[in-house]
Amino acid sequence: MNILGIESSCDETAIAILADNEVLSHSIHTQIPLHQKWGGVVPELASRDHAVRMLPLIQKTLSEAKLDLTKIDAFAYTAGPGLIGSLLMGATAACTLAANYQKPIYPIHHLEGHLFSALIDNAEQFPAIVLLVSGGHSMFIVAHAPGNYQVVGQSVDDAVGECFDKVAKLMGLGYPGGPIIEKMAKNGNAKRWSLPRPMLHSANCNMSFSGLKTAVMQTWQKLDQPSEQDKADMAASFQQAVSDVLLKKMKLVCKSYAIDTVLLVGGVAANNFIRAEQSAMLTELNKRLLCPKHELCTDNGIMIAKSGMMRAKYATKSLGPGEIFVRPRWQLSDYLADWWDLRTI
Ligand code: KG4
Ligand code: ZN
Repeated sequence: MNILGIESSCDETAIAILADNEVLSHSIHTQIPLHQKWGGVVPELASRDHAVRMLPLIQKTLSEAKLDLTKIDAFAYTAGPGLIGSLLMGATAACTLAANYQKPIYPIHHLEGHLFSALIDNAEQFPAIVLLVSGGHSMFIVAHAPGNYQVVGQSVDDAVGECFDKVAKLMGLGYPGGPIIEKMAKNGNAKRWSLPRPMLHSANCNMSFSGLKTAVMQTWQKLDQPSEQDKADMAASFQQAVSDVLLKKMKLVCKSYAIDTVLLVGGVAANNFIRAEQSAMLTELNKRLLCPKHELCTDNGIMIAKSGMMRAKYATKSLGPGEIFVRPRWQLSDYLADWWDLRTI
């Protein structure tokens, strides 16, 4: 079965074609240079760019897979959550093509896409504890089975990736902040500043990062003309504080749920320091950690095509011909209730 997946929820236009478990081709156009000078994503610029890139990128991906549209058996696209204009560009392309070729179409929840990204190069693993850390979300999920997810903890304020981005911005380092901070932190002293680890000792699996960000800002503003070493030390101190919170909360989730497999997904999962710290701790607990390849941690089309493949396998519900569906704000629980038919599992 060939599935074409489209991701356009934020600042990446990404297309992929999967043949069962094999990636035939995938393409990604990142808008990072477009938004860089504004220090963050400008929604109107994002949707305009998706509109321009979408069809040429679909053509390119098809030709690299040596297929034409008649050979695509189903379509999948990110229907939410995300920026409305950006989502509509992917939805319009996917729904029009599906209607034209009379093929099933699966609207996908972006977070489920990230969850399944860990299974692109690994066999299906359920149940699994999932730590999903991206620019918009930070949560612990217990994935009991495909389409059966329980959110057991989440950030009560900023997402981890958002915090990396904001800290980088206030230090004048550029966008997106995660990879820049990770690189700077390599030469830094993580013990130079003792930054807060909010909610570290609370008994639940929720997290908070906005106080950490504020503490970085207050410490940073006291420095007169920060040097390169100051920047490296702050990057390292901040990254260590984030990692400590994620470690402590992961331990708590592992204690609460007797599950052997852990998936670390989302853009922040590309961070080697956070990966290594989680991996060392989970090895001690005899858990198996699965992470996507680095390039599959950040938004991509393969994870959406993979989700479409899982929907085609386990749940039959798809959009009707001529229908179009997006949800800029979308609870995972509403997605599951509306689009997964658990009776088939
Ligand atoms: O999953 P993603 O591509 O988009 C969302 O769904 O939000 O994640 C993007 C986020 C950004 O905040 C970016 O700074 C962060 O992931 N990120 C990183 C790294 N690479 C990307 N954060 C920390 N370390 C990294 N190496
Ligand atoms: Zn994402």
